[in-house]
Amino acid sequence: MRISLGVAAAAALATQAAAIINVIGPFALRITGKTDSGIDGYAWACHAGAATEGLCYTAGSGAVAGPVYEFYYNYTYDGTYTYPGSISYVFSYEGEGGTAVRVPSFLRLEPNWGSNVASALIPPGTSYGTPISLDFDTGFFYIGYLADDTHWNSTAPVAEPPKNVSNFHICYQWTGGYWYRSLAWVLGYEGATPQNPSCQPINLGIESLAPS
Ligand SMILES: *[C@@H]1O[C@H](CO)[C@@H](O)[C@H](O)[C@H]1NC(C)=O
Ligand SMILES: *[C@@H]1O[C@H](CO)[C@@H](O)[C@H](O)[C@H]1NC(C)=O
Ligand SMILES: *[C@@H]1O[C@H](CO)[C@@H](O)[C@H](O)[C@H]1NC(C)=O
Repeated sequence: MRISLGVAAAAALATQAAAIINVIGPFALRITGKTDSGIDGYAWACHAGAATEGLCYTAGSGAVAGPVYEFYYNYTYDGTYTYPGSISYVFSYEGEGGTAVRVPSFLRLEPNWGSNVASALIPPGTSYGTPISLDFDTGFFYIGYLADDTHWNSTAPVAEPPKNVSNFHICYQWTGGYWYRSLAWVLGYEGATPQNPSCQPINLGIESLAPS
């Protein structure tokens, strides 16, 4: 897998002062099955409803060129070495007078109160991003510092370390008004069973774009 993209540059940037926004990309979002090796492909930004994109799955073993396959990772160094940031996508459209308008927008994991499956959506703008970490060694995304309450009882747990969790899945699901096989996050501890039986666990990672 080609996941080394931007790692050296990002490592250099990370030594800068806090609050500096680092952006790496564009890169392809790689999707590989954790248990089903037949899942081997990429995410692309598919229309999910009013100016909102979903992250649809497409099979393939080489990154495809084109704007709907181009993503960024936008983060600030916060001293934890987990680099919490946002996966971002740049909406482009033709504005007034034919001028090109570009709207950087953050990926959001949208909770569903009737399920433990949260759809990954990209509403326009950078206000609602879900903080996601990138492991620069493996090139995979995860969410860091999550508490695991599966053994909690009346006694408060002592010094229980928070966990890194990677619960990305691809599922058949509604994203806005459309039925897609697309990216989701299963709420819960790592490996929690998704309520939607079509969900399959995946690793979500970065990969260099195909030369255009
Ligand atoms: C990165 O984030 C900053 C601040 O939230 C925003 O101004 C910028 O447009 C973002 N860039 C991308 C490519 O997402
Ligand atoms: C979480 O992942 C980061 C790498 O991105 C690692 O440095 C850290 O030790 C991990 N934390 C735990 C609790 O596994
Ligand atoms: C609560 O959980 C802790 C840690 O698992 C255990 O040692 C303790 O006995 C439990 N207490 C009760 C009241 O079940």
